[in-house]
Amino acid sequence: MSSEGNSGPGTSPRVPRHQRLYVNIDHVATLRQARGGFSPDPVEAARWCEDAGADGITVHLREDRRHIQDADVETLSRTVRSYLNLEMACSDEMLAIALRLRPQQVTIVPERRAEVTTEGGLDVKRNPAGLRRTIAALDAAGIRTALFIDPDLDVVHASHELGATAIELHTGQYAHHPDGPGPLLALSAAAEEGARLGLGVHAGHGLNVANVARVAGIESIEELNIGHALIGRSILIGIAGAVHELRAVMNAARSAGLRAG
Ligand code: PXP
Repeated sequence: MSSEGNSGPGTSPRVPRHQRLYVNIDHVATLRQARGGFSPDPVEAARWCEDAGADGITVHLREDRRHIQDADVETLSRTVRSYLNLEMACSDEMLAIALRLRPQQVTIVPERRAEVTTEGGLDVKRNPAGLRRTIAALDAAGIRTALFIDPDLDVVHASHELGATAIELHTGQYAHHPDGPGPLLALSAAAEEGARLGLGVHAGHGLNVANVARVAGIESIEELNIGHALIGRSILIGIAGAVHELRAVMNAARSAGLRAG
């Protein structure tokens, strides 16, 4: 658990201005899957993120298993010390997995096989009965459920009516147009309305060090989910250390070899 003790879903924050950072580690698995081996290991990445102060870990178990695998979620559900947020489509298969592994939080997302990443928020009018049933089943198991939606007041209301505990506002429009006032105003209005209705308000998609500040500044947004840019940045920030580490092993081997010869 976070040492601040205010980082969990459903807890009333002792430090009200703290905004939770949940790190989405899907793309650690993307890199692993590129070679089909064991490295880099998302479970190890989760540990590093938590040690660095992440309030929670997010993974998206996609129907096509393109990055995160079932075994990853299984291990993470036992090893994550903070909070595990499982992103998943609204399907019987995923519901069964969530009920078995019991992450603290589920975020229901739309999923299309051909998409590169989650495009747009859930269409809450498409399968309201299925959403309602899934939310109720998760709720009965003590799992907090967020719906990933566009920042639209009607969809915020519909999410509330479906029984969601929280909403995650799609920040993609803002991330693409960070300087125009429209997307930021839409986010802020949807966040305020969600909070007014008593929903937890999360946000994410396309956020990075250059554009996160204005979303972080919206007080009613309690949690940000950030993945691609953070994992990409960690490669750049971390690459010098990896070069030094390898160089040191090579140098040591050379000196040992020269001594032996
Ligand atoms: N929130 C949800 C619901 C997502 O599907 C994603 C992408 O997997 C994110 C947040 C994180 O987006 P990004 O990887 O662009 O930071």
